[in-house]
Amino acid sequence: MSLKAQLAAAAGLLLATPEHNNSIPGAFKNAIDWMTRPSDDIARHFAGKPVAVIGASPGGFGTILAQDAWLPVLRTLGTRPWFGGRPMVSRAHTLVDAGGALADKATR
Ligand SMILES: Cc1cc2nc3c(=O)[nH]c(=O)nc-3n(C[C@H](O)[C@H](O)[C@H](O)COP(=O)(O)O)c2cc1C
Repeated sequence: MSLKAQLAAAAGLLLATPEHNNSIPGAFKNAIDWMTRPSDDIARHFAGKPVAVIGASPGGFGTILAQDAWLPVLRTLGTRPWFGGRPMVSRAHTLVDAGGALADKATR
């Protein structure tokens, strides 16, 4: 199923964003952007959709600036962003075990 079809079928959207140089990674933004054309598809795929943004990074600020950078995009697309918190994980590489599973109880 294409990404766009999966988005249309989904009750909500969870964006797990990395952060590149204090903003949204270009490839991730590009994937969302191409799902907004033709522009009629914005109403069909994004308008009113519940969206939450989370992120984890090896740095000290846990993708907070990338998460904030998504907000004007989510507003432009008429989504229903979740503002109940800012789930960000800093120093993420210290919180996983050798297999890559989340080992830190507090974070889980
Ligand atoms: C070019 C580049 C720039 C990055 N800039 C930031 C940054 O500004 N802030 C941050 O918290 N993490 C930054 N990171 C770390 C990413 O958010 C991410 O945690 C890291 O790339 C690991 O995820 P990946 O395995 O999907 O690449 C950067 C990574 C790359 C490759």
